Amino acid sequence: MVTISVPKERAPGEKRVALVPEVVARLVRGGAKVRVERGAGEGAYYPDSLYREAGAEVVERGDLLKGADLLFAVGPLGEDLIQGLKPGCLVVGFVQAHKNPDLIKALSTKRATILAMELIPRITRAQSMDALSSQATVAGYLAAIHAARLSPRFFPMLTTAAGTIRPAKVMVMGVGVAGLMAIATAKRLGAQVFAYDVRKAALEQALSLGARPVELPISAEGEGGYARELTEEEKRIQHEALREQVAGMDVLITTAQVPGRRAPILLTEDMVERLKPGTVVVDLAAESGGNCVLTRPGEVVEVKGVRIYGPLNLPSELAVHASEMYAKNLLSLSSLLIEGGEFAPKWEDEIVQGALLMKEGEILHGPTRALVGGV
Ligand code: NAI
Repeated sequence: MVTISVPKERAPGEKRVALVPEVVARLVRGGAKVRVERGAGEGAYYPDSLYREAGAEVVERGDLLKGADLLFAVGPLGEDLIQGLKPGCLVVGFVQAHKNPDLIKALSTKRATILAMELIPRITRAQSMDALSSQATVAGYLAAIHAARLSPRFFPMLTTAAGTIRPAKVMVMGVGVAGLMAIATAKRLGAQVFAYDVRKAALEQALSLGARPVELPISAEGEGGYARELTEEEKRIQHEALREQVAGMDVLITTAQVPGRRAPILLTEDMVERLKPGTVVVDLAAESGGNCVLTRPGEVVEVKGVRIYGPLNLPSELAVHASEMYAKNLLSLSSLLIEGGEFAPKWEDEIVQGALLMKEGEILHGPTRALVGGV
């Protein structure tokens, strides 16, 4: 019988939990034994009693790893769990290897086997396992909500006895998973929404959500549906054109990312200077350097009346649903790791292969191996 363990997340501010009771019940029905650390679901409002009702055993941290075949986590493991890891236990979670090279070295020394959720290939069959997408959906929603909260203006058009209010103009820059959700949310709040991306397919999706696409003579489709980095000439064209466009906006929500690189700069200091006082910028790329040069990760800064917010770990703020979606991603992935109630990873499967960061201490993911100097 496969044993799945779920720790309480220890990263500061992290409220999510890897499995929610509803998903525990489904795994238990499928023949798994689930062990959950005491208080693991507290941050997301799932008390221990609900895990017990779902068929899990609630255990102390020191007992969590005993007999565990699978360790389902949200973020990187704490030092104590790494030291206690047993050979053969498969760890599944977001690893963010580029931010944690020491952690990777420690895991390699312990001969760990790790499946990194951020490496799940973005192929159709893996859509239900794609935690980058589920968590980006949460982040995009909250980006629009935070923008509305920080703005000194209404989002919707209002016709009242005290006069007519014009709708806020919101531009979403970078229209991937998070950007599309930000558009949908800002539209629901009644804003007039504009969208900019370097991928034509993204602009078509934005249009179908009711946003007005901002078209530039740039097309930077990269591999696997992602964008590539712009050339210097393309950056110049982008800067010139966007400088005019953003000046008329009330809110800018930026989400642009290029895989494996610092986030592209979309808002330079001279562009921010041209924004109207009272304009709000929410920069979802704050964690990877920011799309605005003035962003300070985790803070709201005010520059000449423009408020710039660079939130960190937004999914944790919506912990109930972010955990539920993440747990469903893990449940779906479990079909490749468990068979007939037994621990039986399909090592040859394209999805498992793509996400397998480390096997018995050997780093299989090229960029991570390069990062830690070929341990
Ligand atoms: P991401 O987080 O890497 O980037 C966000 C957005 O920023 C992208 O739309 C990108 O085109 C845009 N961007 C990059 N540089 C820019 C620049 N200089 N100016 C303006 N925009 C810029 O992307 P995300 O959201 O993770 O996914 C992107 C795409 O990947 C999706 O739209 C989809 O096509 C594909 N995808 C496929 C999946 C599947 O088939 N399972 C699942 C998820 C995504």
